[in-house]
Amino acid sequence: MTKRPARLRKKGVRKLVRETSLLPSDLICPLFVDENAQKPIAIPSLPGFYRHTVETAVSEAEAITELGVPAVIVFGVPRSKDETGSAALSGIVQDTIRAIKTQVPAATVIADVCLCEYTSHGHCGIVNEDGTILNGPTLEMLRGVATSYARAGVDIVAPSGMIDGMVGAIRAQLDEERFDGVAIMPYAAKYYSSFYAPFRDAVDSGCAFGDRSAHQMDPANTDEAVREVRLDLEEGADIIMIKPALPYLDIIYRIKQTFGVPVAAYSVSGEYAMLRAAIDNGNLTNDAILETLLSIKRAGADMIVTYFAKEAAKTLAYE
Ligand code: PBG
Repeated sequence: MTKRPARLRKKGVRKLVRETSLLPSDLICPLFVDENAQKPIAIPSLPGFYRHTVETAVSEAEAITELGVPAVIVFGVPRSKDETGSAALSGIVQDTIRAIKTQVPAATVIADVCLCEYTSHGHCGIVNEDGTILNGPTLEMLRGVATSYARAGVDIVAPSGMIDGMVGAIRAQLDEERFDGVAIMPYAAKYYSSFYAPFRDAVDSGCAFGDRSAHQMDPANTDEAVREVRLDLEEGADIIMIKPALPYLDIIYRIKQTFGVPVAAYSVSGEYAMLRAAIDNGNLTNDAILETLLSIKRAGADMIVTYFAKEAAKTLAYE
């Protein structure tokens, strides 16, 4: 008997034995809103992305939904920033959630819960004089931010600051205020990565001093990711997010294998910038987008936050 694995690679048969699927419904599209914007402002570091007004964010959410992408993740730029990030408690993100949920009911709305876009120093929490993050006061703020999003009608909150105890604090507050239907998708294993640079330009959230290495994970570690995810699940996380995606496929794989819970991968701004530049320069073709997204799904992600969501969904519609 001749062994001919190539038999399964013929047109038609190939599709039948395909092990991994990639659908528009696997994708989540980032959506930026800016309280200072009168009209959409192009983000130079993220070609094709804009800081929207509430009105244009609604149209954008509608366009995204029509392409079959079920969800958006909202990030806000406030009118003004302060030491404690108080603008996170009410403003453009809450208004956007409310507007999308009423005008585009088919859209699932996720909101990033963090203070770095709202603090004058750019750190993800309230800081001491020595620049270290104060855990208790920061958790208090995060509880307030998460419940303000819940009140606005958010479907999922995504705490992204890697602040110890953030999931438990938010779950307790949501339950206390009877928002027991709001899911929590923490960035459970978020690495101290150089791939966030274009995002920080987009929302103007660079650190005025120091960096985020005291709370974001060391890229060298994998056992630590397992510990972080276990803690977040114990504290009540519903979906586990791993970030970035492409340089951390082993982490996505291991977390899915170990816990078997819904896993989201955040293919971050630097991953987008990398592929975008190569495609725009003619060094790669568009096919690299779907191949990359497929690799993230193959590793074990159930859903992917990607700046290629719209483009990928358009291509997938014609598959
Ligand atoms: C924090 C947050 C960041 C990103 C998502 N949420 C920035 C950071 O941790 O520095 C990065 C996303 C990206 O690079 O696409 N609110």
